Amino acid sequence: MGKQGAKVKPAAKAEPNTGAKRRNEPGFDNARVLTADEYFKRVRHHNVRPAKWSGEDVMETLEELGRDPLRHAERRFVSLVNEDHGDLAGASPGIFIGVQLIHPGEVVPNHRHNSVAIYHYLKGTGFTTVEGTRFPYKRGDTIVCPAWAYHEHEATGDEDTIMYVTQDMTEMAAKRTLFFEEPAGVENLRHMVQGTSKSWSATRDQDQE
Ligand SMILES: [Fe+2]
Repeated sequence: MGKQGAKVKPAAKAEPNTGAKRRNEPGFDNARVLTADEYFKRVRHHNVRPAKWSGEDVMETLEELGRDPLRHAERRFVSLVNEDHGDLAGASPGIFIGVQLIHPGEVVPNHRHNSVAIYHYLKGTGFTTVEGTRFPYKRGDTIVCPAWAYHEHEATGDEDTIMYVTQDMTEMAAKRTLFFEEPAGVENLRHMVQGTSKSWSATRDQDQE
């Protein structure tokens, strides 16, 4: 029989296992073994504050971009980012919000991406074509473009088109599963991962990316 009332020796306080003894072997430099306490300290996003973006600031930047005659009206947009999420660039880790400007007569050429896009039209008239179906749009309309569906936008009428765009691309980018094909054509397929794709578009000057 064991001694009654023997004191249990408290376990020594564990130091984080940094794998230092294997640091010179491939794969170990950035590999850590974390306890539950250490893990949950890391995984939680502390100190994420609400964020507000002013419509005036958005329009000021868009108008500045609007003076640039981009080829084919590609991607004249601003994105609304909450910096408190760090590398997960978006309004929140899973949600991208953009505001896009298209001048009358301009076309955003046919392309696709594996993120879903929801377009809400704040201003303007024109057509958004998804997989060959031409949808007219006007202020107040919303169109959803499924993932990996070809689509293009054409602004008509006399006034600029302004679209409020929501996509689920930020989480995909973080998981390295975001793909663009822009413009349409398998030769223009881009894996949107830093270091593997210089550009999201084959028609952009890659040296400026
Ligand atoms: Fe798109």
